Amino acid sequence: MSIECKGISKAYKHKQLFHNFTGTFSPGVCNCIVGENGVGKTTLLKIMSGILKPDSGMVTHSGMCTYAGSSPYMLRGTVMDNITYPLMLKRQQGRREQHVVLEMIEQLGLNALKHQEAKTLSAGEKQKVALGRALVWDPEILLLDEPTANIDRSMIEMIEGYLKDYLKQKNRTLVVVSHDYEQVHRLSGVLWEIKHHNFDAIIEKRENNRGLLECR
Ligand SMILES: Nc1ncnc2c1ncn2[C@@H]1O[C@H](COP(=O)(O)OP(=O)(O)OP(=O)(O)O)[C@@H](O)[C@H]1O
Ligand SMILES: [Mg+2]
Repeated sequence: MSIECKGISKAYKHKQLFHNFTGTFSPGVCNCIVGENGVGKTTLLKIMSGILKPDSGMVTHSGMCTYAGSSPYMLRGTVMDNITYPLMLKRQQGRREQHVVLEMIEQLGLNALKHQEAKTLSAGEKQKVALGRALVWDPEILLLDEPTANIDRSMIEMIEGYLKDYLKQKNRTLVVVSHDYEQVHRLSGVLWEIKHHNFDAIIEKRENNRGLLECR
């Protein structure tokens, strides 16, 4: 289940972001998007998810696609309700699925908060809930915007483990925006770097991120 961007252009009133970007985000490897603040990473991810329309061009993907932003939206209800929600939609609420939810809550360190109203959580706690919800949903395509930006270092390795496990399944496409170059190095199979170029952004693709990391 790859995602294909064909001739994507996007501009805001005073800023041209992408012009005619074409690229294929393949399954089975972690696609990391990097670039400076304001270069257009979130915009690109939202376009890929379908939340935002490009000015021209199109995105094609088959399969279910989930986007988790860096300030995720919490549904009404508890932490438990939020993480169980995808299973309700899929009508999968058997004992095995409940076990998956409880294990996810435990692993994410949310046990003490599982009955708390999700909208009252801190930023990092919300981010963990959003990640748990996305992983329980288990879509073919997972788009994550700075998934560990507010999360304690001690938990990051565990979350990265979940992302690697997600990719071990057949036909899963993962795209992660990150500012953490060490994380990019650990996760990335394909690196997409967005750079300013005159008034446009250019998007460079590298199959191996080492060159980029070594020259920083
Ligand atoms: N609705 C909007 N109207 C006008 N400009 C916008 C809008 N949304 C985003 N922008 C501008 O587009 C540019 C790209 O924004 P985007 O959020 O994609 O950046 P980013 O690369 O994700 O940055 P960061 O690393 O800070 O998260 C920014 O300069 C931002 O100010
Ligand atoms: Mg952003």
